[in-house]
Amino acid sequence: MTVRFGGLAALQDVSLKLTTGQVLGLIGPNGAGKTTLVNVFSGFQAATEGSLLLDGTPIDHLSAQARARLGLVRTFQAVRLFPDLPVIANVEVSALARGAGRAEARATGYELLDWMGVSNRAGQRGSTLPYSDERKVGIARALALRPKFLLLDEPAAGMHEGEAEALLERIVTIPRTFGCGVLLIEHNMRLVMAASDRLHVIEFGRTLAEGTPEEIKADSRVIEAYLGAEEAEDKP
Ligand SMILES: Nc1ncnc2c1ncn2[C@@H]1O[C@H](COP(=O)(O)OP(=O)(O)O)[C@@H](O)[C@H]1O
Ligand SMILES: [Mg+2]
Repeated sequence: MTVRFGGLAALQDVSLKLTTGQVLGLIGPNGAGKTTLVNVFSGFQAATEGSLLLDGTPIDHLSAQARARLGLVRTFQAVRLFPDLPVIANVEVSALARGAGRAEARATGYELLDWMGVSNRAGQRGSTLPYSDERKVGIARALALRPKFLLLDEPAAGMHEGEAEALLERIVTIPRTFGCGVLLIEHNMRLVMAASDRLHVIEFGRTLAEGTPEEIKADSRVIEAYLGAEEAEDKP
């Protein structure tokens, strides 16, 4: 994938493959192009060059909605729940959108809220949730679409490290629980290493490295580019 905004190449020839049953961690400093990649994959941003294949079939011409129906589902860096709807309805809507009947949609909604550890919030309005619970409902909502591939853009952003760790421990189990593949953007190096089967590293829109967490940990280019930036980003 290549994506240019005027003169700026937000992504330049980045190629990666998601596999069901696995978590691929996507890392890179702020502005590296991570969100742009999720936007392109999910159909929210057109690629300048490149092609996206789902099970071998090009889907570049499809809208975001059509891609979601085929199982390519993303979450947003900033979750937006329907503020006036109860939390349970926020999740049910997704199940209905993929064709579940009303009773099934409701049952799925409760199951997924429970699985994400936020079933106590089911009756509250979307706008009343604390930030970290709102993010968990966002993931439940994405799972209700029965994704084949789930793209998670900084699901733990803004959480304390303990909360983030608990959330990522849940996320690690998504591939085997739901039979899908996960792309995980997470800037905490320790947490993303623990959560990912493989890591893809980008910097200035270009691929720097891809490999297992052990390989990436030992890669001097990654240490230089990414660890330095992470320390800077984590300063208040
Ligand atoms: N819609 C856009 N128009 C112009 N520039 C953009 C747009 N979206 C992202 N960019 C630029 O592309 C680069 C990559 O951004 P982004 O994908 O958000 O990075 P990351 O998620 O890794 O922090 C940045 O320089 C950003 O300013
Ligand atoms: Mg981003």
